[in-house]
Amino acid sequence: PGVTEAPGGSRPDGMSQRLPQTIIIGVRKGGTRALIEMLALHSDVAAAENEVHFFDWESHFQRGLSWYASQMPFSAPGQITVEKTPAYFTSAKVPARVRDMNPDTKLLLILRDPTERVLSDYTQVLYNRVQKHKRVQPIESVLLKDGEINLDYKALNRSLYYVHMQNWLHHFPPERIHVVDGDRLIRDPFPEMERVERFLSLSPQINASNFYFNKTKGFYCLRERGRERCLHESKGRAHPRVSDALRDKLYRFFHEPNRKFFELVGRTFDWND
Ligand code: A3P
Repeated sequence: PGVTEAPGGSRPDGMSQRLPQTIIIGVRKGGTRALIEMLALHSDVAAAENEVHFFDWESHFQRGLSWYASQMPFSAPGQITVEKTPAYFTSAKVPARVRDMNPDTKLLLILRDPTERVLSDYTQVLYNRVQKHKRVQPIESVLLKDGEINLDYKALNRSLYYVHMQNWLHHFPPERIHVVDGDRLIRDPFPEMERVERFLSLSPQINASNFYFNKTKGFYCLRERGRERCLHESKGRAHPRVSDALRDKLYRFFHEPNRKFFELVGRTFDWND
């Protein structure tokens, strides 16, 4: 079985760079940044700051595990190293590669209502394109083709959770993949984080007072040792208005794929209610 030690850097104080024992694999726009920042409230967690894209980008993967380890934060013995790269979830080659590194890796997957996720995904691309002064297409024209849902739209495919989950379940047993309910993490983060702590066998350390609702932002923000901070302004953006008819079409479109996902993981979410 895989590799758990790869030569990252080490320091005289005993801190070293270790391969992650836990990876947040996605989904893009599911709330991955919120999840890793909330997890990092725990003193036994060392979280990578940037998305590493080791398993999905060939140019990174070819550099090998010691390069991967060198991208990790320094951690003390006993701390859990975690990185998040949301693109892993939807990349078919990634699950086998993670398993080959370490079949005991604990995977965190944060999912959100697939319709909301598509709108969030579109919004992200919109902002990126506006920043680069590129032309943007109205949402209806990317979501629809000849009046029907456009299956070629990538963001739509990313919300077909059962398709990607099947790939992961070919390589990991279900008990290694913990699904975080991203809609609940938005509404009430603490109970979701308690479940994450338990899944990772961490001591119960994160508590309700680590979170407070910020009315201006419209989201929960974090409180750590008396200091308060919210996520970056790019997290929690307003989505473009879509007609009720288009929203209904999306909801209906995702109904069956959602059902298949529920069956696959033996658990339901309120996306089809
Ligand atoms: P929106 O900006 O579309 O609302 P990711 O980090 O994976 O890109 O996910 C971004 C999403 O995280 C945001 O999408 C937002 O809804 C969600 N989120 C969850 N908890 C949040 C929080 N406490 N603050 C801001 N955004 C949060």
